[in-house]
Amino acid sequence: MTYNEQDLRELSDSVAARLSEKRFLHTKGVEQEIERLALIYLPEKITELRAAALLHDLAKELPIEEQIAICRENGDPELDSAVRSPAILHGHAAAYLIPKNYPKYALPEIISAIYKHTTGAERMSIFDKLLFFADFIEPNRPWQYCRKAREKFYAGMPDDPSVRSAHLDLSILSVLAFTLRYLKEKGTEPDPTTERFAAALKKQYPNHTVEIQGETE
Ligand SMILES: [Fe+2]
Ligand SMILES: [Fe+2]
Repeated sequence: MTYNEQDLRELSDSVAARLSEKRFLHTKGVEQEIERLALIYLPEKITELRAAALLHDLAKELPIEEQIAICRENGDPELDSAVRSPAILHGHAAAYLIPKNYPKYALPEIISAIYKHTTGAERMSIFDKLLFFADFIEPNRPWQYCRKAREKFYAGMPDDPSVRSAHLDLSILSVLAFTLRYLKEKGTEPDPTTERFAAALKKQYPNHTVEIQGETE
């Protein structure tokens, strides 16, 4: 445990001052969800995961031009694709803001998880995956699909700890399949990193059939 309750309270207050009420409510939902996930998957990193949750949408409400400028100044290697899909930029920009604005929280695992939280990546640590998934299923998300994914995930939690990481991977794969289909239906080009993330997971579980809301794909 790197941080104590007072650290996290101060961090939460500081983040609250930078975000709208709605965005902060989502942020607190992610913190709450990641704590629950951490108890199952990574109890030794619970405070680091909570800090990552509190900081993950730090740049979400900055003007897009400012997000681009932050990424450019820091030599973001994925700047071109992030500019093409601006929703991705805020994860990258937040990752670059942390060392300057919140140096106490500039751990490589926190920065990595925040950088990858909107798209995922071909290589994701369990820490990265927990932030990615908590962001999707946190209890304040208004969409029915998120609520269902959350219920299904906890209801299906295997008793055998050795298969729990596969359960997380397959739950993430389901969410990715849903997101990619949703984007396709909307006529929006999905980010190639997300497609690579889904493909890498599919390859890891070749015999698994991806379920989307009770349907199969
Ligand atoms: Fe985000
Ligand atoms: Fe978020």
